[in-house]
Amino acid sequence: MENNTILDITCLNKTYKQGHEEIRVLENLDFVIRRGEFVSIVGPSGSGKSTLLNIIGLLDNDYDGKVRLFGRNMEKTDEEKKAALRLAHLGFVFQFDSLLPEFTVHENIEMPAMLLAHSVKKNVAEPGIAAPEKKAAPSADELLKRFNLEEISSKFPMEISGGEKQRSAMMRALRNGPELLIADEPTGNLDPANSELIMKDLRRTADSGTAVLMVTHNDKAAFEADRVLRMENGKLVKLK
Ligand SMILES: Nc1ncnc2c1ncn2[C@@H]1O[C@H](COP(=O)(O)OP(=O)(O)O)[C@@H](O)[C@H]1O
Ligand SMILES: [Mg+2]
Repeated sequence: MENNTILDITCLNKTYKQGHEEIRVLENLDFVIRRGEFVSIVGPSGSGKSTLLNIIGLLDNDYDGKVRLFGRNMEKTDEEKKAALRLAHLGFVFQFDSLLPEFTVHENIEMPAMLLAHSVKKNVAEPGIAAPEKKAAPSADELLKRFNLEEISSKFPMEISGGEKQRSAMMRALRNGPELLIADEPTGNLDPANSELIMKDLRRTADSGTAVLMVTHNDKAAFEADRVLRMENGKLVKLK
């Protein structure tokens, strides 16, 4: 394994059981993500893109094949440790806004840092263990400044626009300085102007050394990535 490899998947197979039938979604899929690269995945609805992201995000264990994060075999890693790895090294942005409504934008962004501090205190996490050069974690204030959104810091989610919500979710995903940001249709719910802002944020994130893995329905957005893959018959086919 190259030492700039973040995630390394070999021969991944995933089937869903529905009654007596088996739906084969991922078939002998291989995939590597390296430090700081910007990768997008396109493909028809139902082709298995979210299924793959859930496995990469350590949210789904029910598969065959090898998934290694920083060279560590995830099959042999227990749930508590995986939760800690997720918190320290992975960031998530979903299509629909997932901010906690009772908390301000600032508090929402700080949440992962509080959870991480807690898991370190409980002595379950060894956040630095797997990542040789853990990225520095920016504070909520630093992120708000970087995103030019300081004025929404003390607002509640219901008081801000859809674009601002999505960009807040992205700041929250970046709070612990993840090595990999996973975004499942991050612009799926946004108008073109806000989509463009999100794409700029994703590009800046990749340029700062955090790898970005984005699933999108928008071909124009997809081709702004460095590498573009298409989910086809359970495998990833290179388009760019
Ligand atoms: N929890 C589940 N149980 C059964 N089938 C599922 C489940 N989740 C997804 N599927 C099926 O797996 C296939 C891939 O789904 P998904 O990964 O969500 O595709 P995409 O994100 O590309 O639209 C679809 O046929 C979907 O119906
Ligand atoms: Mg999906």
